[in-house]
Amino acid sequence: MKIKSAEFVMSNSDVAKCPKSMLPEYAFIGRSNVGKSSLINMLTGRKSLAKTSGRPGKTQLINHFLINKNWHLVDLPGYGYARVSKSSKKVFQKFITQYFGLREQLVTAFVLVDIRHKPQHVDLDFMRWMGEHEVPFSIIFTKADKLKPNAILKHVEDYKTVLLETWECMPKYFVTSSSKTIGKDDVLEYIGSLNTNMESN
Ligand code: GTP
Ligand code: MG
Repeated sequence: MKIKSAEFVMSNSDVAKCPKSMLPEYAFIGRSNVGKSSLINMLTGRKSLAKTSGRPGKTQLINHFLINKNWHLVDLPGYGYARVSKSSKKVFQKFITQYFGLREQLVTAFVLVDIRHKPQHVDLDFMRWMGEHEVPFSIIFTKADKLKPNAILKHVEDYKTVLLETWECMPKYFVTSSSKTIGKDDVLEYIGSLNTNMESN
């Protein structure tokens, strides 16, 4: 799929105020600093559409972007960032869970995981929560430019092993790098195929 247009629509902390349109929607979620906003910029080919930062906690709201005038990408705040105060951490968790609980337009979420790290409890817990709430998701491994090809394979295999202890099968997954533009076509083709399915239903 080619990205012909990408526009910022709005930022919100209130799910009820998100766009009312029923356009298909795809949300990017994961730990703070994992690369959600960078991935949105890489996928859309727009360098500063979503705001990024080396410091965790940059994205603090639900951000909607309209793509090709007919679907939405959503950049969400990160979870599991220890340095925000307990109370604001709670607020993040609340509107993140509200978002996934209420947003009927959501076709699938992408849970981003830094490929360099061993499976982390916070990510596995979040995936379990998504499963329990029947929210479809795929995994996007980020920052693949930081590892050699063999190490990428090993880290993905290790992740599979841990997930298969609790999941019947490995969710669909993608290996990406925003700085080296890896995985762009795969993710966009996948979204394109889901959009086509939605249209034909
Ligand atoms: P929050 O909004 O704070 O939750 O973070 P985020 O998940 O949106 O991360 P963001 O895209 O802001 O990126 C965090 C840092 O990781 C920035 O310094 C990025 O430059 C860096 N980064 C993101 N993607 C990649 C990547 O693919 N490779 C490398 N090497 N660095 C990346
Ligand atoms: Mg961000």
